[in-house]
Amino acid sequence: MVSGSASVRLSTQLSGILSAELTVAEVSTFADGELYVRIPGPLDGEDLVVVQTSYPNDKLLELFLLQDALWDSRPASLTVVIPYFAYGRQDKRFREGEAISSRAVAKRVQINAHRIVTVDVHDRRVVDYFDVPFKDISGMPALARYFAEQGVEMVLAPDENAARHAEAIGSLMGVPWDYLKKERIDSWTVETEEKALEVEGLKVAIVDDVISTGGTMASAARIIKRQGARSVVAGCVHGLFVGGADDRLKGFDDVVATDTVYSGYTKVSVAPELAEELSRLK
Ligand code: R5P
Repeated sequence: MVSGSASVRLSTQLSGILSAELTVAEVSTFADGELYVRIPGPLDGEDLVVVQTSYPNDKLLELFLLQDALWDSRPASLTVVIPYFAYGRQDKRFREGEAISSRAVAKRVQINAHRIVTVDVHDRRVVDYFDVPFKDISGMPALARYFAEQGVEMVLAPDENAARHAEAIGSLMGVPWDYLKKERIDSWTVETEEKALEVEGLKVAIVDDVISTGGTMASAARIIKRQGARSVVAGCVHGLFVGGADDRLKGFDDVVATDTVYSGYTKVSVAPELAEELSRLK
């Protein structure tokens, strides 16, 4: 197993579970800011797994360089694990002339890869963009474990896209789940439709695949607090927490994210589910 600089802790956990040897890539920058990548070897002819989350942008570029270096060692197999598949939300052309960014990234990462493994890509239709075997695993069991420990009594999706996540967690925990409808106005602004929910007196977790600015979470929380929720937790698989997210999330009793992207909110790991998938590969 080879870890890029974005996923060292997750790779360490994974390699421990799988009893696989771990090599951490040497990564630095030249004076002009260009990346330098070297993987201490020898690696020739091995079954290799490289783990590198693709956020922020320089980590995606680092992944391309890691793949280039590893491919030259003529691996028996090269599995590319991308815990957070960046650009996944631009998965179609919303306005004429736009790039379909998730397709662009998918096309590039499958160069120098025998197979790709991701965690909760924003839309699984990205599979259509891959010519190599592709597997998307779910981070929802990790969130469900945490919510169960915390005594969460209901799970809510802040929009229709996330309803399948709330359903997955609700089913795993054996608690009710529901979803709201939202309209995105711009990157920082969303409007959530009012909806009567049975949340009075309950500890409710709002779950999404990604928290970016926190606007979606804050808007959903306002609705259920007005309806008498006792305690509100924000949970996501991929926590980006940009553009003032910390302030928007201040009203939550707890915020949790997995380790696909590291932040101060990373409290659970997707390592068990990723390890299970990787152990099936050989
Ligand atoms: C988009 O549909 C995603 O699932 C999330 O709902 C979105 O990325 C959250 O963004 P923000 O935290 O900026 O509202």
